[in-house]
Amino acid sequence: MYILGLNVYHGDSSACLLKNGEIICAFEEERFTRKKHWAGFPVNSIHACLDEGGITIETLDYITVSRNPKYNFRKKIKFILSRPHVAFNFWNRVKNRSFVKDLSSDFTKYFSLSREFYESRIRFIEHHSSHLASAFFASPFEKSAILSVDAFGDFSSTVVAIGEGNKINRLGEVNFPHSIGQFYTAFTQYLGFLNYGDEYKVMGLAPYGIPKYMAEMECILKLSSEELKLFRLDLEYFTHHTQGVHTKIEELNDPTPSITFSKKIEQLFGPARLPNEPLAQKHFDLAASVQKHCENSIFHILRILHPIVNTDNICIAGGVAQNSVANGKITRSTKFKNLYVPPAGHDAGTSVGSALYLYNHILSQKRSEPMFNPYLGTYTSNAKIKQILSVSGLEYQYFEDYELCNRVAQLLADGNVVGWFQGKAEFGPRALGGRSILVDPRRGDAKELLNAKIKRRESFRPFAPSILKEYVDDFFEVKDSVPFMEKVFPIKPDVQHLIPAVTHVDGTGRLQTVDKEYSSKYHQLISEFYKLTGVPILLNTSFNENEPIVNIPEHALNCYFRTNMDVLVLENYLIIKDLNK
Ligand SMILES: [Fe+2]
Repeated sequence: MYILGLNVYHGDSSACLLKNGEIICAFEEERFTRKKHWAGFPVNSIHACLDEGGITIETLDYITVSRNPKYNFRKKIKFILSRPHVAFNFWNRVKNRSFVKDLSSDFTKYFSLSREFYESRIRFIEHHSSHLASAFFASPFEKSAILSVDAFGDFSSTVVAIGEGNKINRLGEVNFPHSIGQFYTAFTQYLGFLNYGDEYKVMGLAPYGIPKYMAEMECILKLSSEELKLFRLDLEYFTHHTQGVHTKIEELNDPTPSITFSKKIEQLFGPARLPNEPLAQKHFDLAASVQKHCENSIFHILRILHPIVNTDNICIAGGVAQNSVANGKITRSTKFKNLYVPPAGHDAGTSVGSALYLYNHILSQKRSEPMFNPYLGTYTSNAKIKQILSVSGLEYQYFEDYELCNRVAQLLADGNVVGWFQGKAEFGPRALGGRSILVDPRRGDAKELLNAKIKRRESFRPFAPSILKEYVDDFFEVKDSVPFMEKVFPIKPDVQHLIPAVTHVDGTGRLQTVDKEYSSKYHQLISEFYKLTGVPILLNTSFNENEPIVNIPEHALNCYFRTNMDVLVLENYLIIKDLNK
């Protein structure tokens, strides 16, 4: 049975293909269009799915979409009717109708599908059911609590549920306009970060501040002790419920939201920071307060959930599940002992979630296998790379795996910045050794070096460590598997001086534990680096420069030429800039 799963007309549009419940590939459309968070119809990703599966679109048994315009429809209408005085145009019937119509016409336009075929195959899966499924049905747990925590989707922001076998039962939800994600986004905008997905910058800023505005935060986002009411926003601080959230999805496929904090936030904290204004201590303290309150809100929900579900397992997805700092504290701050967060916990992952929900929950098929492999995207063979390089005019060398890893490890230890392009591209926002830029983590000047040579990004943002799975507890306070860089853990104080490049200002690191089973060549490279230096860690940042992560060798070469990257490794081909001057 083939299911094509889609996230469409929404930030981070994507497609995946399920074959008999197994995820055989998944692609984010931004990697093809080269526009970050691209939010249109994922036509390139769909073609890539069909190619990878070796099938035509007529072979598909189902097409799932991670949105159901009919869900919460009565609540939407009730909400709009209760506020006739506001120009509320985001959640309206016309929009929902056009979503369904656009999808049908795009399928007809790009794939020449007959209306009968399309209508017999399409299934609309509610947004949070897709998030919940993307976590639980991909997890190794037979039974687990599940949390979808987000900005908004299908008129809800948060859903708590329990998963057992191939079923998910929802226990409660928080509806529009109350949202932890919206709370975080409004302060992200107030702090001068206006792009879609900039929330991670506030998370990076937080350790520089003191959470001295907790009393204010607790008034703006109030935690509720009433069972499953969970929390409420004080709406006077926001505008999304009166002005709507406007984006440029329809014209430009750009999901960047309009400003959603109200004047009352400026009355309380002073004028909002402009994007180019220097960061002051107040901004750091606000970031620290927002981050801490976000963490407290998640822990609050999980403490309510734990006694209801009778399990110590928890799965999390949704935009707020991208908060790796909060994720890293869950097993230490709540009674849950085991946490699974999928590689694409954000909206791109809902394509996978919608397909998994249909296969498992609706069709009641045999439970899907756990997902520990994030390498589900585009692949280019050595033969194809050789073809590309042979016409590039570059000097290059081919090495077998062992010799390649040995040489690259030495180049890293010698201080070179290395572009590492291997295997299938990662599905999800993190580079995990498939499309990565690597640096020696022992370098105190790595941040300056990377910023000067490759990425001109904010100096406060930390770089992340990839560590051999076998050595996690030599360096980190918590021994756990973190395959998708989805958790931040404290680094042991006595080893922080060994890896200054990946130790954040508060002594933490957003680690990736590298497992030989899923990342054999990357594991081999770090092992060779360990033999040379005694450090089983590399600094790993995404292979890009103010663009989506590179997808194909041409993107990697383009980035290599544009920047001052020293070394480029394309599968088994090694290119050294010094030899090409
Ligand atoms: Fe979402």
